[in-house]
Amino acid sequence: MSTPHPPRESNVAVAPAEGKLGILIPGIGAVSTTFMAGVEAVKRGLGQPVGSLTQLATIRLGKRTDARTPLIKDFVPLASLDDLVFGGWDIYDDTAYDAAVHANVLEASLLEKVRQPLEAIKPMKAVFNSEYVRRINGPNVKTGGSNMDKAEMLMDDIATFKQSSGAARLAMIWCGSTEVFHTPGKVHQTLKDFECGLMKNDPDIAPSQIYAYAALKSGVPFANGAPNLTADIPALLDLARDRQVPVCGKDFKTGQTFMKTLLAPGFKARMLGMTGWFSTNILGNRDGEVLEDPGSFKSKEETKLSVLEQILQPELYPALYKDLYHAVRINYYPPRGDAKEGWDNIDIFGWLGYPMQIKIDFLCRDSILAAPLVLDLVLFMDLAQRAGLRGIQEWLSFYFKGPMTAPGLYPEHDIFIQLMKLKNTLRWMQGEDLITHLGLEYYD
Ligand SMILES: NC(=O)c1ccc[n+]([C@@H]2O[C@H](COP(=O)([O-])OP(=O)(O)OC[C@H]3O[C@@H](n4cnc5c(N)ncnc54)[C@H](O)[C@@H]3O)[C@@H](O)[C@H]2O)c1
Repeated sequence: MSTPHPPRESNVAVAPAEGKLGILIPGIGAVSTTFMAGVEAVKRGLGQPVGSLTQLATIRLGKRTDARTPLIKDFVPLASLDDLVFGGWDIYDDTAYDAAVHANVLEASLLEKVRQPLEAIKPMKAVFNSEYVRRINGPNVKTGGSNMDKAEMLMDDIATFKQSSGAARLAMIWCGSTEVFHTPGKVHQTLKDFECGLMKNDPDIAPSQIYAYAALKSGVPFANGAPNLTADIPALLDLARDRQVPVCGKDFKTGQTFMKTLLAPGFKARMLGMTGWFSTNILGNRDGEVLEDPGSFKSKEETKLSVLEQILQPELYPALYKDLYHAVRINYYPPRGDAKEGWDNIDIFGWLGYPMQIKIDFLCRDSILAAPLVLDLVLFMDLAQRAGLRGIQEWLSFYFKGPMTAPGLYPEHDIFIQLMKLKNTLRWMQGEDLITHLGLEYYD
């Protein structure tokens, strides 16, 4: 029998989710249109938000004997789907409906039923630089002036969207193409250097960083769904803290890396060794086309490769993992479109070093896996903002291949630890006991 619980003091004051939440998205492509069309479909009862914690998951509170497991959305104040409004930027001027048709993820019959709201989403002119995304080019771009002028144009776009949509609050999520790999340079170190770099068109500043800057300056939470460096630089992290704005990233954890972070912690938990993990993919959407460029692939490869090393900790377990050979390949293969296929060959070894092999063939749908992550991220980022959390939101690592962390801290990649961290953060926000899974009290 559950016993009634007195209301508890919340650890932070979370403002209610009143009014509309405006979602601003650089990149009106496969992921973002699948997300927006999906929200419109769910609102009309045409489908279920499968894959979304904010819509479907429960959270256990108190002891296992307490029988308190509300839905997350009933436990913390989240914006409701009915209160979401969408806007975005793209280098192509297709409406979200046309872009969704082009992406060819959702069936035409479903898209037809949500055509009206999607057609109303017309991408604003993008800030683009073909040095950063090389294999595509489009006409819908801002021209003239310095990068600082472009940042100001983005801030104007943000303010205009807020006004015209009637949104009470905003959140931005990068669903644009993967930019080429680059590491933090001098211009990324301080806000002053960064702003100076914007004025001088410093080539080390990527378009995604101009969006992130505009968002943070406007007090809008910023999440990064791609592996680009973007907000993961001291200048923008300082700005986020200064403006009391949450940020998170990078690179949605969906297909193959999702599988890796499910399996690798299991092998390590059982102290099974590993000599190799070879991953290869074919995909034929625009994302795949951009990833054909070695610079963009390098950004992806970095986030994909870092996962195993950090989960397996070869420095702590040299006998099991020091010789691990890990390779990741992505091949653009147009016939498959968004229906990616990812193969993994895993060479493990057990007792006395005897070898074994595991093969995985995941016939997945990239954007179907990514869309619920976009939904959860924007709702949780808005919650974080209303809870007064600022800077890097490590509790949202659950959603990313390359979670952002404080400098000097290694990221946590084990998906179950990430989930515990996420749920404990929600418990902490609402003044509930954190769950440690110790459980000795049941046997006293
Ligand atoms: N689908 C997944 O499972 C998944 C997982 C992890 C990361 N991602 C990342 O999410 C991003 C989006 O994926 P997608 O499949 O929707 O790709 P997509 O190519 O369909 O869409 C990206 C869109 O961004 C636009 N774009 C590029 N640069 C821009 C700029 N500077 N400003 C505005 N728009 C710009 C492109 O024109 C394109 O329409 C990619 O970076 C991808 O790597 C996707």
